[in-house]
Amino acid sequence: MTGPEVPGRLIPAKDPNGPGRELRRRYVPGDVGVFTRDEARRFVPRGDGDPHHDVVLAWELLYRLEPELYDRLATAERLHPGVVDWLPRGVDRIAEVGAGTGRLTMQLIDRGQHVVAVEPALPLRRILRRKLVAAGHGDRVRVIRGFFDQLPLPDDFADLVVACSAFTPVPGHGGQTGLAEMERVCRPGGCVAIIWPNHLDWLAARGYRYVSFPGPMSVEFGSYAEAVELSEIFYPQAAGEVRRRGCRRVPFEVAGLNPPRDLAFKIMPCQPGGTPC
Ligand SMILES: C[S@@+](CC[C@H](N)C(=O)[O-])C[C@H]1O[C@@H](n2cnc3c(N)ncnc32)[C@H](O)[C@@H]1O
Repeated sequence: MTGPEVPGRLIPAKDPNGPGRELRRRYVPGDVGVFTRDEARRFVPRGDGDPHHDVVLAWELLYRLEPELYDRLATAERLHPGVVDWLPRGVDRIAEVGAGTGRLTMQLIDRGQHVVAVEPALPLRRILRRKLVAAGHGDRVRVIRGFFDQLPLPDDFADLVVACSAFTPVPGHGGQTGLAEMERVCRPGGCVAIIWPNHLDWLAARGYRYVSFPGPMSVEFGSYAEAVELSEIFYPQAAGEVRRRGCRRVPFEVAGLNPPRDLAFKIMPCQPGGTPC
């Protein structure tokens, strides 16, 4: 499977004006001033960038400038229940990287005694904390700032180290260093999982196995009005079809996205380079 470097989603091939057309139009080059120094180093390494031409940059601006809009989309693009069911349960510690507003985090709470959610974007961390408090789990999950390539966690920290729609092989969004960091933080015999992966060959070459769960999947918007509004921004090539169907549910194939039904994982060996415990 090939695709662009936007975490999780493969860009719709049928968009005549290129990936993320409407999203890219929402922001201007000066918006990169919203990044902290650490963020700028990863997301605009040459110091400048034009979101009109760079869909990955546009997504990073979305997280910081319109985090509630992003949260509405992530809430609608639910994970296949098989993905969460597959993850280990009853473990001591779980670390999630690139936790966003908690699409996966909220479902990890029942699987581990302690959950740490690492997320670089302050506006997304705020939404995640708010959700945790509202759900009565404010003290169960530690939400901290951090990046794939420099995780603020000790060696062998967690039984499960997971990223959902966040990791790519590109250095600013993980890369070889980021994967090595996830593996460093995972205890021997623990599991590193990349959910909704889009560079399977790259992961397979690094010892990751693939699991996918079948069945029809739809984006579940809260209302038909929201389906139209968010499709116009995030799946503009499908907005006409969404209107024609008149339904709050949009099948992923109509949206032009690969559904969030899969993961790549590795069980960490007990000895470096050895077999799993
Ligand atoms: C598409 S969102 C997914 C968020 C969440 N995991 C979910 O499934 O809803 C991608 C996330 O990756 C985070 N991210 C981007 N670059 C990162 C990096 N270098 N290190 C850690 N997280 C990163 C973003 O801030 C954002 O929260």
